[in-house]
Amino acid sequence: MSIRSIKGTHDILPGEVELWQQIESTIRQVFGLYGFSEIRTPILEWTELFSRGVGQATDIVQKEMYSLKDSKGRSITLRPEGTASIVRAHIEHSLGRSASVNRLYYIGPMFRHERPQKGRYRQFHQLGVEMLGSKNPALEAELIEAAIRFLEKLEVNEFELLVNSVGDANCRPIYIEKLSSAMIPILNHFCDGCNKRHKTNPMRVFDCKNSDCKSLLSQLPKLSDHLCHNCQEHHKELLDWLDLYNLSYREDPSLVRGLDYYARTTFEVVSKELGPTQNAILGGGRYDDLSIMLGGKALPACGFGLGLERLVMLLTSKKNIDIDVSFPIPVLFLVHLNSKALRKCVHIATQLRNQGHYVSIDFEDRSLRSQMRIANRLQSLFSCVIGDEELTTGKLTVKRMHDGKKFNTNEKDLIHTLKKEIRAIL
Ligand code: HAM
Repeated sequence: MSIRSIKGTHDILPGEVELWQQIESTIRQVFGLYGFSEIRTPILEWTELFSRGVGQATDIVQKEMYSLKDSKGRSITLRPEGTASIVRAHIEHSLGRSASVNRLYYIGPMFRHERPQKGRYRQFHQLGVEMLGSKNPALEAELIEAAIRFLEKLEVNEFELLVNSVGDANCRPIYIEKLSSAMIPILNHFCDGCNKRHKTNPMRVFDCKNSDCKSLLSQLPKLSDHLCHNCQEHHKELLDWLDLYNLSYREDPSLVRGLDYYARTTFEVVSKELGPTQNAILGGGRYDDLSIMLGGKALPACGFGLGLERLVMLLTSKKNIDIDVSFPIPVLFLVHLNSKALRKCVHIATQLRNQGHYVSIDFEDRSLRSQMRIANRLQSLFSCVIGDEELTTGKLTVKRMHDGKKFNTNEKDLIHTLKKEIRAIL
C-alpha cells in the first residue's frame, strides 16, 4: 500500500500554490503600509510556553498539542499558535528597546490535534499580526482596519466583524463567580463538556456549539453588564475608533475565544460562506498580561490570527476569481536530436537563465515529436531544435509556437531575437 499524508494535513500542489503566493505578497503589501515587519520564530517551542501562555485549562493545552520529549526528557511542542512565541521572542531579544510599539507579522504552519472537518485541519497555516507595546484602543482599531483592508484587497467582501470585551483581572474574576453560581441550578441541562468547563473555565460555555447549551445562555449573567469602569471606557473608545474608520461591526457578548490570554477586547471576522461551524476567518484581541505570564515585564499588546486555508477556501469558492494565478511559462523550449546536441542545449539554457529567462529542456532520450509535445504542454512561447546541422553551421531556427512562424538566428543573437519577438507578441 502506498503511503498517504497524515489525517488532517494536506499538500498544497502546483496550481494551488500560486494563490498562496499571491496572498502572501498581498500580506506584505497591505501590512507594510501599516508599518508591520515580518518575524520568523521556530515551529518547535518548550511545551511550557503554551501551557503558561495559552492556558492550562484551554482545549489547546488540554488535548490538542503535539508534544514530544527531547533526548534530555524535556517536553517540546509543535506550536499550536503564534502569539506566545512572539511574546517570548520580544522578551528574549528585548525588542521593546528598538521601538515603543513593535508591529510584527508572521506566516506559517500551526499544529492542533483537533477532529478534522471542513476548514479545520491538524496542520494549518496562519497569518499572525501583533502590535506590542501599547494599551491604546486606537491601535486595536487600526489593527482591525488593516485586517479588513487586507480582506477587501483580496476581494473578500462577505463577512461580519464581531467585537466584545472579556474584561480584565479586575472585573472578570467577580463575573466568573457570578456566572458559576448562576450555572449551578441548571447544570444538569448543560452538556458534559460544559459541566467540565463549569469547573475549569466557566466562560467557555459561551463557546459551546451544542444547541441545548446555547439556548440556556440567555439565562446567564452577561459579562458586558459586569465590566469595570476602565474596561467599559476602553470598549467605548474602541467602538468610537471603529466608527471613525467607518467599519461595520456587531457586538457579540458570547465572543469569549478559546485562549486564556485575552483581556478586554476580543474580535473575530466570520463568514457564512465558510459554513455554520468553522466560520471564523480570523480572531484576536488584547493580551496585556501574556508577557508577565511568560516571565517578562508588563507589555500591553493586541493581535489576531487568520486561517490561510479558510481564506483560500473563500477565494476559490468565488465564481469569477480574478486573482492572477499565473503558471511560469518557458520562453524557450530547447529540443535536442542527439547527446552532443543536448550538451549544446544545456550551454544555451545556462546563458539564457543567467539573463533571467525561463528555458526548458527535456533530458530523456525522446523523439523530436515527443519533445515538441512537451513544449506545447508547457505552453512554451518559442522552441528551437538542435541537431548535427545546427552544431556544424552554428545557425539556429526559432519557432514561434502559437502560429508556427520561424526565425533564423544564431547562438550569439538568440537572446536578441527572442526579446524582439516577445515584444512583438506582447
Ligand atoms: P485562533 O482563534 O485559535 O487564534 O486562530 C486564529 C484563526 O486560525 C482562526 O480564526 C481560524 O481561521 C484559524 N484556525 C484555527 N484553528 C484552525 C484549524 N484547526 N484549522 C484551520 N484553521 C484554523 C489564535 O491562534 C491566536 N494566536 C490569534 C491571536 C493573535 N490573538 C492575538 N494575536
